[in-house]
Formats: sequence, structure tokens, C-alpha cells
Amino acid sequence: MKDQLKEIQERFLKDVQSVKDLKDLDTIRVQFLGKKGELTAALKGMGKLTAEERPKIGKIANDVRESIESNLTAQKEKFERIKIEAQLSMETLDVSLPGSKKDLGKLHPLTKTINELEDIFLGMGFSIAEGPDIEWAKYNFDFLNVPKEHSARDLQDTFYVADEIVLRTQTSPVQVRVMEQKKPPLRIISPGRVYRCDEIDATHSPVFHQMEGLVIDKGITMSDLKGTLDLFAKKLFGEQTKTKFRPHQFYFTEPSAEMDVTCFKCGGEGCRVCSNTGWIEILGCGMVHPNVLRDCGIDPEVYSGFAFGMGLDRIALTKYGINDLRLLFENDLRFLGQF
Ligand code: DAH
Repeated sequence: MKDQLKEIQERFLKDVQSVKDLKDLDTIRVQFLGKKGELTAALKGMGKLTAEERPKIGKIANDVRESIESNLTAQKEKFERIKIEAQLSMETLDVSLPGSKKDLGKLHPLTKTINELEDIFLGMGFSIAEGPDIEWAKYNFDFLNVPKEHSARDLQDTFYVADEIVLRTQTSPVQVRVMEQKKPPLRIISPGRVYRCDEIDATHSPVFHQMEGLVIDKGITMSDLKGTLDLFAKKLFGEQTKTKFRPHQFYFTEPSAEMDVTCFKCGGEGCRVCSNTGWIEILGCGMVHPNVLRDCGIDPEVYSGFAFGMGLDRIALTKYGINDLRLLFENDLRFLGQF
């Protein structure tokens, strides 16, 4: 029996050499130490031994079991280490490799301009109003005091969706909508798209953007208009900016004016940005016409107000030194990536 035990031990030592992984190792463990394993089977013969032999063989059997067990444990640790090392080497991270660059989106120069203007006016206590791009002709023209025979109404100038429905040619109809819906005091701006039958070129597009402004309250005068718009110009183009108001004519304001600002590039000396005039025309404005107030249900004897409207595309082009309006609409990433 002693020989049998020794033989088992030697065979184990030989077999264990061909083990390649944890799975093989478990198979060999079951084969030698399992309930139906070789060592267990051999020990069944113990009953036949004499009382004298039994403790000796018992000890040998224990030694064999312990040596097999400790061998198995050592092998198990070895294979586990190999497995972890293999995994680690597969998952190595080379921190010196260049990172994969994620292209971040950018805001369109026009969006930036709109955001900036909104911030300035919100800071002065204005709120933002919206109106539809597809508008009643009477909101776009009649309520704004535009005469029935005015050429702006012509099919050549205005996109008609139906007889009485147009693509708005200006953001001014939002004034009407606001005055109809809310009671004064009013202080709103309204940026948005407007449409005119224009051929596309470096300075024209059938779709462009405007921002309207409207202030109505008791006792509003031309000084409020000038003070507000002068402050706006300084915030947009810098503290040193000066403004001038030239008389103009709009149907919905009386008196009306156009506001110019000193060129932010040359400071008024004359340069390419301002076509050597030193001034840049920025917006139209005026005191809201009593007819407009009355038609919108506001008593012109009690309230007065001013309004203004500006072309946002032109402001964006001027501010960012872009020389062609079409660039704003072509969506060329090489252009848009520069802002
Ligand atoms: N709607 C005018 C335009 O498209 C701009 C404008 C001028 C708006 C004077 C106003 C204003 O509110 O008071 O040319």
C-alpha cells in the first residue's frame, strides 16, 4: 500500500507538469483528491491493514495528500498570476499617445451677434418677444401705417403666401402683436428672420435678420430714444463710440431717424470698414406714430413711445470683418470655424 501511495504521488507530479491552465488543474485535482479520486480509492484499502501498520500508512497517506494539495495551491496561484498579467498587458494604456480630438461645435457668428444684442437689451430691462415669419399683410403693413399704394407691398418686393398673407418683410409687425396683447408699460426687443424678393449678392439675400425694439410708457420722449440707443451702441462697439441721428422717413414713426455710429475700427478717421466715411449706419428708429398706437388700442394722448429696427446680418458682418453676406448662409465649416 505504501508503494501504491508513492506511485500515486509520482504520477501526480508527472501529470501536473502537462497542466496548461486553471481548468486542467481542476481536472487533475478531482482525479487525485476528489471523492472518487485515486487517493480516496487507495485509502479504502486501509481497513485491511493491521493495527500496527495503520498509523504508519495513515501518516504516509496524509503526507501524500498534503504534498499534492500544496502543489495544487502553488500551481493555482501561478496560473492566476499568468491570467492577471495577460489581462494587464492587454489593457495597457499608453499615456504618451496623442489623444483623439473631439471637434467642438461653435456658435454661428450671427447667433453670437444676436446673443450679444439680447444680453445688452436684457440688461437694460427689455424682454424678448416673438412673432411669426408668416404674417398677415395688415400686420406687416396696415397697422404700421404703410399707405395702401406703397411700393413695398408690391409682388416684386414682398413674398405673398396668399392674398392677405406674406412672409414678413420686417420685424416691425411684432410691435403690433405686442401692443395688441399687452398693456403699457412695454419694453421689448424681437430678433428674427425677415424676407424680401431680393437677388442674392454680397450685400443682399432674400432671407435676412432684423431686431425690432419697442418702448411704450407715459412721458417717453426722443431723449429716451437717443439715450437708450447711444448706450446700446457704446456697449456693442465700445465706450468711445459716438452716435448721430439723421432725419429719415418711416411710416410707423414720427419723427423718424437713422442712427450712425463712429466706426469701431478707425474711430471715425475713415477706413475700409466704414467706406472711408468714419460712420457706420446701424438702425432706423423714431417715435411711434399716433396712428399706430391708436390702431393697436393704445391712447396716444396718454402714452408715447419709441421704436427701432436694425439689420442683424450687417451688424455681424461689420463686427466680425466679413465682406460677403453669402458666407453667413453657405454653411462652409472652413468659414464658420473661424469664429
Ligand atoms: N422696419 C424698418 C425696416 O425694415 C426698420 C425700422 C425703422 C424699424 C424704424 C423700426 C423703426 O421700429 O422705428 O427698414
